[in-house]
Parts: sequence; C-alpha cells; structure tokens
Amino acid sequence: MSFPLNWRVLSLSLLLVGSTAFAADGAPKTAAAVHSATLQPRPGHAAIASANFIATNAGLEVLAKGGNAFDAAIAVASTLSVVEPESSGIGGGFMAVLHRAKDGHDIFIDARETAPAAVDRKDYVNPDGSPNRDTALKGPLSAGIPGEPAGLVLIAKRYGRLSLQQSLAPAIRIARDGFKPDARLRGAIAGEQKDLQRWPASVAKYLPDGKPPAEGAIWRDPDQARAWELIAAHGDDGFYRGETAQKLIAAVHAAGGNWTLADLANYRAKERTPIVLNYRGYRVVTAPPPSSGGVAIAEILNILSGFDLSKMDQAHRVHTIVEAMRRAFRDHNDYLGDPDFVKMPLDMLLSPYYADGLRQSILPDKATPSSMLPRAEANEPGMHTTHFSIIDADGNMAAVTSTVNYTMGSTFVAEGTGVLLNDEMDDFALVPNKPNVYGLLGSTANAPEPGKRMLSSMSPSIVIGADRTAVIGSPGGSTIITQVLEGILHFIDGESAQQITAHKRFHHQYMPDEVMVEDGTFDAATSDALTRMGYTLKQRESWGFMNVVTWDRKTNKLDAASDPRRPSGLGKVQ
Ligand code: GLY
Repeated sequence: MSFPLNWRVLSLSLLLVGSTAFAADGAPKTAAAVHSATLQPRPGHAAIASANFIATNAGLEVLAKGGNAFDAAIAVASTLSVVEPESSGIGGGFMAVLHRAKDGHDIFIDARETAPAAVDRKDYVNPDGSPNRDTALKGPLSAGIPGEPAGLVLIAKRYGRLSLQQSLAPAIRIARDGFKPDARLRGAIAGEQKDLQRWPASVAKYLPDGKPPAEGAIWRDPDQARAWELIAAHGDDGFYRGETAQKLIAAVHAAGGNWTLADLANYRAKERTPIVLNYRGYRVVTAPPPSSGGVAIAEILNILSGFDLSKMDQAHRVHTIVEAMRRAFRDHNDYLGDPDFVKMPLDMLLSPYYADGLRQSILPDKATPSSMLPRAEANEPGMHTTHFSIIDADGNMAAVTSTVNYTMGSTFVAEGTGVLLNDEMDDFALVPNKPNVYGLLGSTANAPEPGKRMLSSMSPSIVIGADRTAVIGSPGGSTIITQVLEGILHFIDGESAQQITAHKRFHHQYMPDEVMVEDGTFDAATSDALTRMGYTLKQRESWGFMNVVTWDRKTNKLDAASDPRRPSGLGKVQ
C-alpha cells in the first residue's frame, strides 16, 4: 500500500507540538498566553473520584483539615486498604502520577513490590514444566515485598502538607470503629472463600463465623488499625522494621514463604521521572517502567498522531486503534521490566520516528495477524486493583493506581498484622513464554530476580490541555492500559468525566489475537466491517473501574465521575 502524505505532515506537526513549552501550572505556555485572560489559575475547590464512597469521603475529610491532594491521596489509599481490601492495600503496592501546581512539577511514585532475595523460579514451575498457578497466585510465595506503606510515607514527607498521623487518621478510625462491607467486598470474600480457608489468620479476618460478613453487619479490623498506627508514629520503620516486620516474617515462614527481615528493611519506594508526551496539543503525563502502561500509551498515541481519527467511520477508527494497541503490546512483551535491572530501548520505543515506522505497517482495511509469539489465553480481569483521582483547590493533582494483584491478593493474611499480602509475583514472567493470569507474555526483561520489581500495567495518568485537564486511571489487569488510552482519547475529544467513565470499551493485547469487546460497543455494521477486515471479536464481561476528575479552566468547573459499571464508587466535588 502506498502511504499517503498526510501521516508525514502530521508526524512533522507532532514534532512541532512536542517542542511546546509548559507553564508552571502545567498548561502549554503558548495556549495559556492566548487564553490567559479567561483561564482560572486554580480551581478554588476540590474533587475526588475513587472506587468506594467511604474512601472518597476520607480524602475530602483530610482536604477539609487543610491537606492538599497528596495528603488526600494518602487518606484515600489507606482507607481503601480497609474498605476495599480485595483490590489494594497495606500488603500491596501502587503507582502514582502527581502534579504539583506551584511549579508544574510532575512526579512518578513507584511503590511497586519487589521480589524477596530468596526468590527461586523453581517454586513457580510444576514438575512437567507448566506454570504452578497456585504458588504464583496464592499464599506467601506469591507475595512481593509490599510497597504501599513506603510509598505513602514518601508522599507525606516530600509532598504532603499534613502529618502522616493526620492523613492516616480516617483509615485508622474506620478500621477500629468498623464499617459495613459493600456487596463487592462480600462477593470477593465469598468468591475466594476456598483459598481464604487455607490460612487461619485469613479465616479469622474475613470469615469470622465461618462465612463472609453478612449484609449490613459492622466489620472491624483492629490489627490493620494498629499496623497503620505504627506507620503513622514511626514512618517506614513502623512497617519495615520492628513489631509488624517481625510478625510478617514469622507468619510468612510458618506458611512456607521465604521473606527475610532484610527484604523488608531494604525496601525503598522510588521517585522516578514520568513519561511525558504531547498528543493533539495535550500534555500527557503517565507511568514509566516498571509500569508497561505509560510506554504502551505513549507508543499508541504516537502512532495515532499520524491519523485523523475524527474523519474515520467507527470500524476504521477501531481498526486503527487496535493495530496501534497490537504493536505496543508486542513491545511490552519483548522489552520491558524493572529499570533498575534491565536496559530498555525507551528512546526508541517513545520516539516519533519509531511510531512512524509502526504506522506504515498498518494496512488501511486489514488486520495484521499477531503470529510472532505463541498464543496466550487472557483471563477476565476481576475485582482487583483500584484507581483514584484527585484535584485540590490549588490545582495539585494525584492519579493513583494501587493493587494487591488478583482478587484478595494471595488470600494470605499474616497473623497478628491485619496485612493481606499481595500475589504480585505472578506479574513476573515466571515461566518464559507462558502467560500470566492476564494472558500477558514476558521475556527475560521481566524475569524474577532478588529485589527486582515485577512489570505492571498500572497507568495512572494526568492529561493537561490549554483549558481542560483530566486525572485518569483504572484497574483491569492488562486492559488497564487500553482503558486509560481510550479514556484519554475520549477526554481529548471533549467528553465529560461522566461520559468517559461510562464509555463502552475494547482491547487488544497482541496475544491472544482477538479484539475483546464490551457488550454494546459496536453496532452490527461495525462488527461486520471489523470481521471482514480479519478481526476476531470476543465479548468480555469485566471492564475495570475507572475514576476520573476533570477541570475546565475556562468555566472553572470540576467534575468527578466513578465508573457506573460498579455502583459503590463515588466521584465528589467539594
Ligand atoms: N497487578 C496488576 C498490575 O500491576 O498490572
């Protein structure tokens, strides 16, 4: 096929847009200059969207006490650990993109878990060479060294306005006084009941009378309250040394795990430089490795920047986006891992020239088969991982995606700590070229090594335009990346926070070579056209839990929306 001139012209414009400078508040200087008479420099009020109304209210409570978006993020994350433990928590990790309004500083916080020093790949392989799903997903061997406590301490120290005691106070109070578990938590406990029953401390915590908490029952978590109190009093030492650390190690060892006190003491949350790119005049700030999400989103947007999606019918728009997704996920599988361990060709992957080459390989009316890697089966993303978005009155922003990996993590609670451990070890490529629970393949770049961070799909992102800004993210395993991508595209197309969270979604991850589609995404004509182009469409039930906050600087309107697919979320403007 001959590639028309328009993509060359558009990639030139991409380079020019790429040189746009940004004002201290993150808006493009050129655009800000044009609009400066009408644009609001700060919202003057705040908004939070999270997956649970108790957590959103905890964040608002901390803002009302004089906290900023970063203090509120600590309150929301720690409260989610109490009220939504099936998705994220004190025994897990998170990734956050923060934007500081006073100087426009963009920050990435990497609180991803690490492999313990004694990690041994053999623990995750059955005698016949197949992956051992049980050790990878259940019990203490499946757990990485938690990052959430260190990440929250780091945010409080460097970016918060309040003390850690003040920001953690709502979580401690709610854990101690109790709350009514929502249908999602009760359902998650019921769904994981068989595995929870394997560990006495998990039974004591989640199956108090031998069954999940009843609807309307008040549920308390005094051990977790104590764990957060120790962090509030002693910072990192409150979790990674002393009482909690000793109890964690004793419990993990008693159940066959291999953590040491040194693994905990050596854990560090890290501040990294986020990935920043420009797409259609918007500054997109997103997650760098050890997330694969930002690299994939950047690669996809760079490819798409050479097309005018608005001039395409739906089938061609989807075809073009899916082909960009396919190419980005191939690179995800091949190259990405922990930046402290692996040299990655990021300059190449993020370069507009690289995107030009990929764009040329997309045929106008035909799917490109993904035939270079063995086929992998993707799993349905369930009730795991959580995302929340915050903008405060000064325009500080926090996009935080947090996880214990699969629903209820490892299902293993370390006795006496209230800490439900993650099962993040499955996010490593534990058995080369065998898919993980999300159907993702990995290479040696993501092989487990002592102290290494496992690759993540978490893609917290902030999108800053001349007059509109969005803070966005979602859970959803490998579909996080494409959900956030589609959210960014819808935002740039002018959609509101409510429209973005409600929008129907689709996903392609290179392998399996099929377009996963939410029911009702395409009309019959589009589905037929895509099938004729060579696509296999496969309906998928579960589509994340997107939480979005937007700020229109012309009208000074904040909007907060929580995914309507899951009713317990709350987006609230204060
Ligand atoms: N555990 C899911 C992720 O980090 O991608």
